[in-house]
Amino acid sequence: MTSPILVTGGTGTLGRFLVPRLRDAGRDVRVLSRSGHDHGKEHGRDVEFVRGDLLTGEGINAAVKGVSVVLHCASGKKGDEAATGNLVEVAARQAARPHLVYPSVVGVEALSLGYFRAKLRSEQAVTDSELPWTIARFTQFYDYIFSGARSMAKMPVVPVPAGFRVQPIDPDEVAARLVELALGDPAGRVADLGGPQESTWADMVRAYLRAGRRRKPVLPVRLPGLAKVRAGHLLPAGPVTGRKTWEEFLTEKLH
Ligand SMILES: NC(=O)c1ccc[n+]([C@@H]2O[C@H](COP(=O)([O-])OP(=O)(O)OC[C@H]3O[C@@H](n4cnc5c(N)ncnc54)[C@H](OP(=O)(O)O)[C@@H]3O)[C@@H](O)[C@H]2O)c1
Repeated sequence: MTSPILVTGGTGTLGRFLVPRLRDAGRDVRVLSRSGHDHGKEHGRDVEFVRGDLLTGEGINAAVKGVSVVLHCASGKKGDEAATGNLVEVAARQAARPHLVYPSVVGVEALSLGYFRAKLRSEQAVTDSELPWTIARFTQFYDYIFSGARSMAKMPVVPVPAGFRVQPIDPDEVAARLVELALGDPAGRVADLGGPQESTWADMVRAYLRAGRRRKPVLPVRLPGLAKVRAGHLLPAGPVTGRKTWEEFLTEKLH
């Protein structure tokens, strides 16, 4: 019998791909979530749920008890640093310290947005911890670009930040990589992973409109504070890339 894997954020965009993949790999999965879930009702699979909140500390003890791996995918608009700190502190008190696997964001140093700063400090909480750890940085998920494009496309002229270079990835490919990392030995900081094509926000929104057979002008607007993004800091370093293209993702999503 193997000990369970805890997935924080198992109900999120990434977690919804991750949990079934871990089950397919034959692992028992426990999910920490702020809302109540009935055992086994999520993902059509047998999954244990623990109600808890990483910001208040509620439920963390029960969630980490006896797990061999923590895949820490929970994230919020605010407080990621505190949430990660709370998780790490409780997990490090376990007799058998679990392997902590943490997905972060490529180029997290590039933007001085609060969310990115909190991610960077969360990475620090992981590397400073007494847990064995693995950190992998990923580019933006297609779902994130998709919902941004959908809300921007409600306007008669679609404004996008000019020269905003991205290389987004399918979250299921991120999930596949995280399963591989979670089932392996702690590896420290591993190579970044992004999707197969470098693009810009403007071109991705144009492709979104085309895929939905909609004709609207896209207006790139030059915004301050994005010089590093225009210089490519959000692009993954190294040769390893995902395979699914934005066009393939759009076809699945819209047709
Ligand atoms: N989205 C992207 O483009 C992207 C790119 C690279 C890396 N990442 C990283 O990948 C990870 C997952 O991102 P995602 O897009 O899947 O996130 P998401 O869809 O926004 O899901 C967030 C998850 O966090 C949980 N959560 C939030 N606050 C919590 C709290 N206080 N206590 C416990 N759980 C909490 C939520 O669970 P409940 O609501 O059930 O409690 C939810 O399952 C994050 O670390 C993110 O930074 C994301």
